[in-house]
Amino acid sequence: MTLYMIGIGLTDEEDITIKGLKAIKEADYVFLECYTSRLQVVMKRLEKFYKKKIILADRDLVEKKADNILDKAKNKEVAFLVVGDVFGATTHTDLFLRAKKKGIKVEIIHNASILTAVGLTGLELYKFGKTTSIPYHEKSFKPETAYDVIEKNRKAGLHTLILLDIKPNRNMSVNEAIKILLEIENKRKEKVFTKNTMVLGCARLGGDYKIKYGKASEIGKEDFGKPLHCLIVPGKLHFVEKEALENWK
Ligand SMILES: C[S@@+](CC[C@H](N)C(=O)[O-])C[C@H]1O[C@@H](n2cnc3c(N)ncnc32)[C@H](O)[C@@H]1O
Repeated sequence: MTLYMIGIGLTDEEDITIKGLKAIKEADYVFLECYTSRLQVVMKRLEKFYKKKIILADRDLVEKKADNILDKAKNKEVAFLVVGDVFGATTHTDLFLRAKKKGIKVEIIHNASILTAVGLTGLELYKFGKTTSIPYHEKSFKPETAYDVIEKNRKAGLHTLILLDIKPNRNMSVNEAIKILLEIENKRKEKVFTKNTMVLGCARLGGDYKIKYGKASEIGKEDFGKPLHCLIVPGKLHFVEKEALENWK
């Protein structure tokens, strides 16, 4: 029948669109992708609001066992929920293409994404360069990609949005992200991300958000409260952007 791929927004159960809610009401199965982002409320609240049982879809199910979802959509209505927008950041293009190949009808219902919510900072969305992410560092896994991306974007005068790691029981904070970047700076000494680098720490955009602008050393000490958090390193600033950032000092 149909695979509905539905963005459910950034904050809570009420961020869903009317179209999205209608599709869920008609669905025989409702999956919630649970590894790329999170709402600020527990799943039970979604189940109560949608009046449907939700099946959590982890990375293994979506990436390796996607047929378990797609085969159901051959003769049933299936809703696949993604926090934020369906194709925001980590995309679900693979699931979309596989469904098409199997001849399954797919309907996409969009919603707000972190990629556009950062517009609230006053930085022009058109002037963001490559988006990057910081995973938790482990003994044998200390990627420096974010540092390289900041450097490249900065050279081009572009802003960098840095998404932070999500693990089943912890979410990276702005403070942890700054600490990791300063550790990389300490090792590489290329003056890409120093204590004096101006950054924007953002938390819970779309909800009871907190945004702070200042030197990495100051923002690294700020308490941003509950997840989710992200970090922005601004590039070259237009005077309107400068004025907007003053608000968050
Ligand atoms: C892969 S991205 C989100 C993708 C999602 N589909 C979307 O369109 O927003 C997840 C990361 O974005 C950031 N993020 C998501 N929602 C956020 C929010 N409301 N406020 C601050 N950061 C957020 C966090 O760093 C989080 O780990």
